[in-house]
Amino acid sequence: MESIWQNTELPHFPPLWGDIHTDVLIIGGGMAGLCCAHTLQQAGVSCVVAEGGRLAGGTTGNTTAKITAQHGLCYDKLLRRFGTEGAQTYLQANLSAISEFASLAEEIDCDFTRADHTVYARSGMQLLETELAALEKLGYSAVFREKLPLPFPTAGGICFPDQAQFHPLKFLAGLTADLTIYENTPVLQLEPHLAITEKGKIHFSRAIVATHFPLLNKHGLYFLKLYQQRSYAVSLEGLPPLDGMYLEENGLSLRQSGSALILGGGGHRTGKRGGGYPALEAAVQRYFPDGTITNRWAAQDCMTLDGLPYVGQYSKHTPWLYVATGFQKWGMTNSMVAAQLLTALVLDKPHPCKDLLSPRRPMLRPQLAVNGWESAVNLLAPGLHRCTHMGCRLNWNPQEHSWDCPCHGSRFSRSGQVLNNPAVKPLPAFRRREPRDKK
Ligand code: FES
Repeated sequence: MESIWQNTELPHFPPLWGDIHTDVLIIGGGMAGLCCAHTLQQAGVSCVVAEGGRLAGGTTGNTTAKITAQHGLCYDKLLRRFGTEGAQTYLQANLSAISEFASLAEEIDCDFTRADHTVYARSGMQLLETELAALEKLGYSAVFREKLPLPFPTAGGICFPDQAQFHPLKFLAGLTADLTIYENTPVLQLEPHLAITEKGKIHFSRAIVATHFPLLNKHGLYFLKLYQQRSYAVSLEGLPPLDGMYLEENGLSLRQSGSALILGGGGHRTGKRGGGYPALEAAVQRYFPDGTITNRWAAQDCMTLDGLPYVGQYSKHTPWLYVATGFQKWGMTNSMVAAQLLTALVLDKPHPCKDLLSPRRPMLRPQLAVNGWESAVNLLAPGLHRCTHMGCRLNWNPQEHSWDCPCHGSRFSRSGQVLNNPAVKPLPAFRRREPRDKK
């Protein structure tokens, strides 16, 4: 079933035929790629977008579309990892991104509305108190709310006032108006200043990889620096409207969109077992028994080692190439931050997030060992179905009827087609035997 957003038809663009020249090539036509294209164009830089399939065919079409600088209880962690200046820089960049969305939404009809965002706890105040103290240190006036309009008891929540929400595909449709875009144009080979597609070549000065999971294996070690998480959402009709947006760390996410309540949760590492739709459906039965589920969808998110995205030069050896990835489930504001930062880098201008979000920052974090362990175990594990990315054993996902890779999160349909990158090749035909679904 499709997401609630996918009832909106995006404009169509032709594939590339022939050779073209541009200042900046952007590979990937999701929220990050199109925000980059728009921001570069506004700065007077010529750019083109090459999208391998249809625009917003990945995570952007399956988001909950919250536009907030409150990314879970992240600020205490960021304060400890990156100091006051680093955490403040991240906070301010994301708050500025909200203002930029607000300004663009004045010209784009995208159901943009201001709304408070609250991270709540079911019980225990300790994490909330720690986060509040961190926010105070950063000079941000968050509000503690004891009583929340949720159908289950909470210990209260930390509220970021005046955040926002919108319809992401309506927004993207408006953003495409003045952009040069080629759809169904996968980049088959990427060399310095040259991209080769099926029926053409793109000569560029610099390129930006905005393909969700970065497409080049041989540079940057992204297969060690990233893993992917799957999370789920349902939309419900027939309920009284909910005022505001809500999130429990590792729990339920809620927001209203028109007459629908969007409920998210059930997340887990891709390729592993987790709550999935059953967890969400149990929550619906328990807390929203009068609601009717109209849509179900799942999203795939790239997670980094230290809780911050990777935005900047792709690797030490590729000064002509940039990347934007690892948005940690907060792809709306982080796409805009990435667009502003990458535009500054292309123009050789300073930006406060340049070092903080650099993909070349130190990576010795505990998650690195977890990622390495998962890769080693699944590379060595026996099994007929192997991922076409780097050969890990695939696990059958009975809820979504797909073959999922626990190493870096590629997914394949029952018939072997690639559903999520970094894999690009389908499964070999002899391995497409249909499995029996087991719970
Ligand atoms: Fe990398 Fe499967 S996604 S081996």
